[in-house]
Amino acid sequence: MITLKSEREIKKIKEAGHIVYLALMAAGEACVPGATTKDVDKAAEDLIVAHGFNPSCKGYAEGDEIPFPACCCVSVNDEVIHGIPSDRKLVEGDVVKVDIVADKDGYFADAARTFIVGKATDPDAERLVEVTKQSFFEGLKYAKVGNRISDISHAIQEYVEKNGYSVLREFQGHGVGIAMHEDPGIPNFGKPGKGPRLEEGMVLAIEPMVCQGRKEIMESDDGWSIITEDGSLGCHYENTIAITKNGPIILTND
Ligand code: MF3
Ligand code: CO
Repeated sequence: MITLKSEREIKKIKEAGHIVYLALMAAGEACVPGATTKDVDKAAEDLIVAHGFNPSCKGYAEGDEIPFPACCCVSVNDEVIHGIPSDRKLVEGDVVKVDIVADKDGYFADAARTFIVGKATDPDAERLVEVTKQSFFEGLKYAKVGNRISDISHAIQEYVEKNGYSVLREFQGHGVGIAMHEDPGIPNFGKPGKGPRLEEGMVLAIEPMVCQGRKEIMESDDGWSIITEDGSLGCHYENTIAITKNGPIILTND
């Protein structure tokens, strides 16, 4: 079921979104050589808690999964999404995806960014980060009342593939706002003109997940991290947005 949010609810989701944005910036600052991925997680969690919000991912589980143990998903290099913060030390050139959800009073926002530690060592890493980010904005152009969900999906896929990368198939964007995951699902690939029509009051997490090489992925032994099968870099960019009659508004920003 797709829930439509009132202006008042969108305002509450935007408040959570602002904190998610600040937490992502804090996490990005913490992505320095020698820091552990737990240090990155802590920087974000401290900020969220200091503002009186909850780190929604902590303890989250779907079905019989092992509950996610941290505030942030921190995924390094070939890990695309859902990396568990650990004692792994970051080194110059690491490509770090940070994905954060925060909530307060029952309102949730979700966003992700990719940071490069120090100077890139893979000559293609900066372009990968840029193309992934831009693919979100290509999708956003179609986030208008009357369009369909897969118009967004198609625009993302087309832009990513035109630039020589691939989109993974097993995970997708989603509705968000009064829960972390709501309907509808928003794939990052597909033919246009399919799926539900976009309506005023929909709140959506649009999140291109991009592989530098082939699109095949596998789950790692920790039960969470999703890694590229060919060992190439993974990349992620995500914002929570609201559909309004005047076009989309990004809720996870400054
Ligand atoms: N932020 C992720 C998403 O976009 C959720 C991560 S799963 C969790 O759906 F266990 F970490 F919460
Ligand atoms: Co999400």
